[in-house]
This record gives sequence, C-alpha cells and structure tokens, in this order.
Amino acid sequence: MENLPLLKVQGLSKFYGGRIGCTNVSFDLWPGEVLAIVGESGSGKTTLLNSLSTRLTADAGMIQYRMRDGAMRDIARMSEAERRLLMRTDWGFVHQNPADGLRMSVSAGANVGERLMAVGDRHYGSIRAAATDWLSRVEIAQDRIDDQPRAFSGGMRQRLQIARNLVTSPRLVFMDEPTGGLDVSVQARLLDLLRGLVQDLGLSVIIVTHDLAVARLISHRMMVMKDGHVIEQGLTDRVLDDPREPYTQLLVSSILQA
Ligand SMILES: Nc1ncnc2c1ncn2[C@@H]1O[C@H](COP(=O)(O)OP(=O)(O)O)[C@@H](O)[C@H]1O
Ligand SMILES: [Mg+2]
Repeated sequence: MENLPLLKVQGLSKFYGGRIGCTNVSFDLWPGEVLAIVGESGSGKTTLLNSLSTRLTADAGMIQYRMRDGAMRDIARMSEAERRLLMRTDWGFVHQNPADGLRMSVSAGANVGERLMAVGDRHYGSIRAAATDWLSRVEIAQDRIDDQPRAFSGGMRQRLQIARNLVTSPRLVFMDEPTGGLDVSVQARLLDLLRGLVQDLGLSVIIVTHDLAVARLISHRMMVMKDGHVIEQGLTDRVLDDPREPYTQLLVSSILQA
C-alpha cells in the first residue's frame, strides 16, 4: 500500500438543471482501497460515480488522479485523448447491466481481447492466451471462448464484463451495482469472486450499491448519500455497527429487518 492517495476529490457537484444530482462531495481514495457508495434510489450514487469516472462532466469541484508515473493530474485538464486512454487502460467501469459494458454479438474471447487491442497489442497468439487466462480467472469454461455473451447467463455475462475490464491491469475500477440484476445465489458467488480478484490484484474500487450486505462484504470504507449529499462516511464496520446519523441508522435497521 503506497502512502499517497490514488484519487483526490474535492467539492464535486453535478446538477441537472435546478435539480441536485450530487453536491459537494470530497474524499481521498487510497491504493488498494474499496469504497462503497450507498444510499436509497435517487440519492445520487450513479451521478457521483459517473461524475468521478468522467462519464458525466461535473459542474464544480476537482478530481485529481495519480498517474502511473506518480504525477497527480487534474482530470478536467486532461485532453480528451488522454482521458480516453485512461478509461481504456488504467481505469475500468463495470455496469450493472452487462450488455452496457459488453459487445453482445462478438465472441467472449474478442470481448476480452478487444481491450488489449485498444492499447496496441497486435499479436493474435498473446491476445488469445490472455483472453483464455482471464476467462478461467472469472470461472468461464475455456470452451466458451468463441461463444457470444448473448448465449451466456446473467452471472456469466457479468463475469465476462469483469474479465474485459481487468485484462488491461487497471488500478482503479468503478462499479455500479455489479450484482444488482442477479439472483441471490448468483450474487453471492459473484461477490466472492470479485472480492478475491480485488484482493489479489490490489485494486482500488469505487462501488455503488443500495445493498448494505454487499458493502459489508467487499468495502473497507463507505459513504452514505441522501438527496445528493454525503451525510456520513467512515470505515465500513464502524458505519454499519455504529451509525452516527439518524438516516444511516434507519438505513441499517431497515436492512436488518429484511
Ligand atoms: N439524466 C437526468 N436528468 C435529470 N435528473 C436526473 C438525471 N439522472 C438522475 N437525475 C436525478 O438526480 C438525482 C440522483 O439520481 P441518481 O444519481 O440516479 O441516484 P441513484 O443512483 O442513487 O439512484 C435524482 O433526483 C434523479 O431523479
Ligand atoms: Mg443508480
């Protein structure tokens, strides 16, 4: 674990006309740290995640990212080409709906290999080998490599999306409800797999979830959102075992009753 933050966020806000998406969000993310953003539907989780990952343009605030060379860069001051390169290499983005993060009508192997080709790998044999390796790491049988994700179950699609993201060895991965659309038993298995990969690779992750059990299992730290504001943040165990804000207490107790 390095002793400098990977991501530094100050006063980040995003509005939709007069409506608050998220406002005045500040935090540091450390290498190897998993941060969960939790809150009810409409609390601003997705807006925050998309603003952080530059899928949305923030209206105020600053996002700084520590590049591989160690330099801290202001994301807003990067060229479009630099930002695109970052998103294809050093960052990953796992969508809730795998179809949003995959190409459904090209093979599983090509879905993984494509990200390598995008960063300049042109050697068919090594791309195929990397794709094969990644499929097995996400527990997809190698004889499925030429099948299209259309033919996969929801859980397999999500594992393929994860492989596609991780093949370029990103340092930071954004995830929006990655287990959201799946059956409970499939969710548990995927979460287990994700947790193992995140640990093995020392990934930094920002994960949006409305499910506190997911946050408990995978995150070190969490931020609780309400109406676009971060109302409480802290170590995951502390927030869940000893929530300070009445709203967080409500959120925690309603989950415990479920
Ligand atoms: N494209 C949009 N246009 C207008 N308002 C939006 C848009 N997307 C989200 N919002 C509003 O911003 C707030 C936060 O939404 P969102 O980030 O999607 O929350 P969450 O992901 O926590 O459900 C909500 O009030 C929502 O209605
Ligand atoms: Mg959302």
